[in-house]
Amino acid sequence: MTASEVKEKIQQLTQEITQHNYNYYVLSNPTVSDYDFDMMLEQLIKLEQEYPEFADENSPTKRVGGQVTKEFETVKHKYPMLSLGNSYSKEEIVDFETRIKKLVDGEIEYVCELKYDGVAIGITYVNGKLTRALTRGDGTQGDDITTNVKTIKSIPLQLMGNDFPNEFEIRGEIFLPKNVFEELNREREEIGEQLYANARNTASGTIKMQDSAVVAQRKLDSYLYFVLGENLPFKTHYESIETAGKWGFKVPSAKDNFIKKCKNIDEIFEFINYWDKKRNELNFDIDGVVIKVNNYRQQEEMGFTAKSPKWAIAYKFKAEQVKTKLLEITYQVGRTGAITPVANLQPVLLAGTMVKRASLHNADQIEKLDIRVGDWVFVEKGGEIIPKIVGVEATQRDIFSQPTQYITHCPECNTKLERTEGDAKHFCPNEWGCPPQIKGKMQHFISRKAMNIDGLGEETIEQLYNAGLVKNILDLYHLTKEQLLPLERMAEKSVNNLLKGLEDSKKVPFERVLFAIGIRYVGETVAKKLARHFKNIDAVMQASFEELITADEIGDKIAESILQFFSVQENKQMIMELKNLGLQFSLSEQQLENTSDKLAGLTFVVSGVFSLFSRDELKNLIEQNGGKVSGSISKKTNYIVAGENMGPSKLEKANELGVAIIDEQQFSAMI
Ligand code: IVH
Repeated sequence: MTASEVKEKIQQLTQEITQHNYNYYVLSNPTVSDYDFDMMLEQLIKLEQEYPEFADENSPTKRVGGQVTKEFETVKHKYPMLSLGNSYSKEEIVDFETRIKKLVDGEIEYVCELKYDGVAIGITYVNGKLTRALTRGDGTQGDDITTNVKTIKSIPLQLMGNDFPNEFEIRGEIFLPKNVFEELNREREEIGEQLYANARNTASGTIKMQDSAVVAQRKLDSYLYFVLGENLPFKTHYESIETAGKWGFKVPSAKDNFIKKCKNIDEIFEFINYWDKKRNELNFDIDGVVIKVNNYRQQEEMGFTAKSPKWAIAYKFKAEQVKTKLLEITYQVGRTGAITPVANLQPVLLAGTMVKRASLHNADQIEKLDIRVGDWVFVEKGGEIIPKIVGVEATQRDIFSQPTQYITHCPECNTKLERTEGDAKHFCPNEWGCPPQIKGKMQHFISRKAMNIDGLGEETIEQLYNAGLVKNILDLYHLTKEQLLPLERMAEKSVNNLLKGLEDSKKVPFERVLFAIGIRYVGETVAKKLARHFKNIDAVMQASFEELITADEIGDKIAESILQFFSVQENKQMIMELKNLGLQFSLSEQQLENTSDKLAGLTFVVSGVFSLFSRDELKNLIEQNGGKVSGSISKKTNYIVAGENMGPSKLEKANELGVAIIDEQQFSAMI
């Protein structure tokens, strides 16, 4: 093939794949088999590999992700991302109408839409290509999440047609479809990970993940509902949405009744009532309806308040509520010993799911609502998967019912519960003898941010504990193949994997071991600071209160907790034995070599992309040499270490405050 033939072939494949992608992910109406689609994609990948000079940044082959973002750049929005005024009743909508009718002449036409409960996003297109995607942030500036957004299949990388403006922004919402969210939680349950509370937060966490390849697998979806730009070729909002649909965006369609033109309040309420009833049937969460003035000219006349457009308002649905009988109150013991009361309910259908249990939070909550076993209670489902009891039907109470007596002893180990001043929850103090706490310690130890032991999950710990094989962290390291093989779901391969994971964990650096052993209040960051300051466990163990608080970020509360931890004989014993097993209890040679206090007292901001170091390496180097790393530029910043593509807003701020900007070579010289 000649170069121009290759170029043409690439263009043709790109166009075809884009169209098929649209048919599949936006219209849900595929017109080729998966196999044929994969073949086309493969062909394109191959051509792009052979002729990288023709590979477009927005090629459909880029959907799989792979690029890793260490820190998302903050970028100023071209148009501020405003919010909407909220309303909860018909009266408030009537008020809204009265208000806006005073601002313009003539009839007003409205457009009703769903209020998607996801993550707001603004995407810019230049010459039909996706160039940038920003989160809402504080409304004035957001995070640049372009690489992650490019993996979302319903968001076009290149537009269809040719009647789009040279440059415009489109806004909408990114969300995790309900079925995808449920599947994700099923998987997590299987591997014993804590479940995600709701789809919205999960979507918001996903879109900020560093590895775009993981984002690509999460099956995020989108709806877009707002086009912005100069001299847009539309007269009405409705027209803008319809046209954006033709360009390849996933927009609400009238066919699904996701968008509707309305002439008056009655029609608006028909739409609201319809979706209030039907919202459970949607495969995504909505929390209300948005009502917008359709005509652009009228919108312009109405204008904005400081926070929101005057031409639009949100109507929020009430959380769904049902009444059911409280059968029993049981108590759960968490891994830290915290007690959570749980209401066991007569099963009842709420927001499309059968509810059997609800959280009661703590003793105060029970007392405040005077909740008693046998009561008819109101259960509500907010954004979370766990519903809550919001009230009691007092008129239906049994005359012999008695106020709830909160438990005084741990339901798991029968130790007397404690409650410290200011704590809402009761605690079981039997740290070393209470099963959920024992398991909790081990589960924390193996968790990803701690020892990150391959082949060991929360559920496996549960299984090992129940089989009587482990009672503490140390026991994990004494597990044998012979003990493990007879267990359920333990084949040769998983056993080998588990044992290897444990062996490998002996190389995990000191700071993470320090985090993993589970000293109260010693989180990831504090563990790092302690490790850097004291360099080995003996120094930490021997440190007095005064010595502890001289370390960076170690306050009274943490220092006391550390002293308390090492005053317990079992803890000291455990550490000695873990040390003998070969776990890391001091900084490595290399870490020691790289430490100094050359940067003591200096604060750095790191921005851009570097060639000598990764961004994390740079930050580590700063900290290892006694400096501080900060995320934003302020008067306290001494230096900005700037790589390529440093954000323009950061540059501006730096110049404004007169902060010195250095490159990585200059930084290297400093240490
Ligand atoms: S229009 C200038 N339409 O709700 C206002 N917003 O509470 C433009 N939202 O910030 C927003 N669904 O993130 C609009 N159909 C919809 C929406 C919607 C959800 C979000 C959006 C907005 C927030 C306000």
